[in-house]
Amino acid sequence: MQQTILKTINDLNKWKNNLEKNINFVPTMGNLHKGHLELIKHSNKDGSNETLVSIFINPLQFNDKKDFINYPKTIEKDIKLAFSSGANAIFLPSEKEILNLKSLTYQKACKKLSSNLCGKSREGHFDGVCTVVFRMLKLINPQKMFLGEKDWQQLIILKNMIKELNLKVEIKSINTQRDTDGVPFSSRNNLLSTPERKDLQFFSEELKKAKKNFIVNKTINLKEIYNSFKNKNLKVEYLQHLSAFSLNESINKENITILAGAILCGSTRLIDHVFLMKRKPIIAIDGPAGSGKSTVTKLIAKKLKFIYLDTGAMYRALSWFLIDQKISYDNDNILEESLKKLNIVFKSNLNSDQDIFINDICVTDQIRSQKITSIVSSIASISKVREFLVKEQRKIGDKGGIVAEGRDIGTTVFPKAEIKIYLNASIDERAKRRKIELEIQDQVINFNKLKDQIKKRDLDDSTRNISPLVKAEDAVEITTDDYTAEQIADKIIQIFYEKLPKEIRNDF
Ligand code: CDP
Repeated sequence: MQQTILKTINDLNKWKNNLEKNINFVPTMGNLHKGHLELIKHSNKDGSNETLVSIFINPLQFNDKKDFINYPKTIEKDIKLAFSSGANAIFLPSEKEILNLKSLTYQKACKKLSSNLCGKSREGHFDGVCTVVFRMLKLINPQKMFLGEKDWQQLIILKNMIKELNLKVEIKSINTQRDTDGVPFSSRNNLLSTPERKDLQFFSEELKKAKKNFIVNKTINLKEIYNSFKNKNLKVEYLQHLSAFSLNESINKENITILAGAILCGSTRLIDHVFLMKRKPIIAIDGPAGSGKSTVTKLIAKKLKFIYLDTGAMYRALSWFLIDQKISYDNDNILEESLKKLNIVFKSNLNSDQDIFINDICVTDQIRSQKITSIVSSIASISKVREFLVKEQRKIGDKGGIVAEGRDIGTTVFPKAEIKIYLNASIDERAKRRKIELEIQDQVINFNKLKDQIKKRDLDDSTRNISPLVKAEDAVEITTDDYTAEQIADKIIQIFYEKLPKEIRNDF
């Protein structure tokens, strides 16, 4: 395998011109350790792209001059390690070349994301990171960039910058790599004396202990943790419990949070964190009829071993019951009384699917009839009906570990779902799919009539007053026309895993 060292931007451009593949980019500041090497290995395993590792000690990200001067420099060793871990090329530009790039502007890190944690004490640090990473991305134009989750705040800030500037690069992250004593690998660890290393180990252990307590008590006692550091004479720069994605302090309603801190071991500043989760994650899938929700949701539930919640089936079952029992549901009082006595449950059946029961009557097949299909949207627009079913749905999803499909999951039922997906497909494709489904159930319906029926239901669902079908602001929209259900399910699982910190994968 060819191993190339690129010392200038000119070298880089020449190398790129002869390249037939896309680039996976691993930015580093050198003094490579296991964390970096894992990034290089992951990059190497991910597709057939060339792996380019940059080694550039970015002066703009050091708010402390002494820290910059003392930063470990081990270039010859780094080159050997990077190549032996699978790098195809190493980019070693001079400070001057990167900093003098007049054509590429300075970047400012998002204020909200950089106001806490390291941003508090390291003035300008994240602006420096953003500026140099932006320049590297513009010069290299990689398809993917690999970053470690150890620097979680940096990862979130860079993801945000890429989104804001609409840069076409996919970010891949890997979990914090730790040494045998539990300490996260960091280039600065080389500067520690043995007692300082012990301090760092104590710090990491306390964070881990706090996580263990959180699993039982669901709270964090920052004061208590601070005290344990004080008793050990540890110099804590900060210790914060924040929302993991917005990095702000409004954590009460958040499911995934981060407990992160920085300490000074001698004059060396080190960081570590743990992720905390109150319940298992929730995946919300919304979209119109025939967009592929049910098939895809079932597949995801099976692959992740999550609960599958078909909320549409609940609206259908309730509609069936009101009609079957001839209940005057347009009378509020009568409806309210009937709802009090209602019990809707799902049970697995022998076909590895699930049946739906309403007051112990299995209605799985009946709720798919044309009669129910034509009435369900109008019953679903009644506020008492929605209130009742949303409450039931939230009970089912209380502990998380659920993938729910419907029309209002991401907006109303689970607005704090970790992942929100909005599935869509063209009207012709949706009608085609629905026709096949109905034919399997021996129901015959004219294609154009079916199309009109779907259009009417779309209109009813998206124009009703309460919880209309709309794409949640933070939902990812996927058009399913040209893909199989399996492909869409895998794509959603990929989006799900990419959003979550890797560390919490073992927690559910
Ligand atoms: O499977 P299909 O797309 O035909 O619809 P469904 O999921 O079985 O839902 C049937 C109807 O229930 C929808 O057309 C909506 O009117 C209503 N519904 C709703 O209002 N809110 C939900 N979360 C789910 C369904």
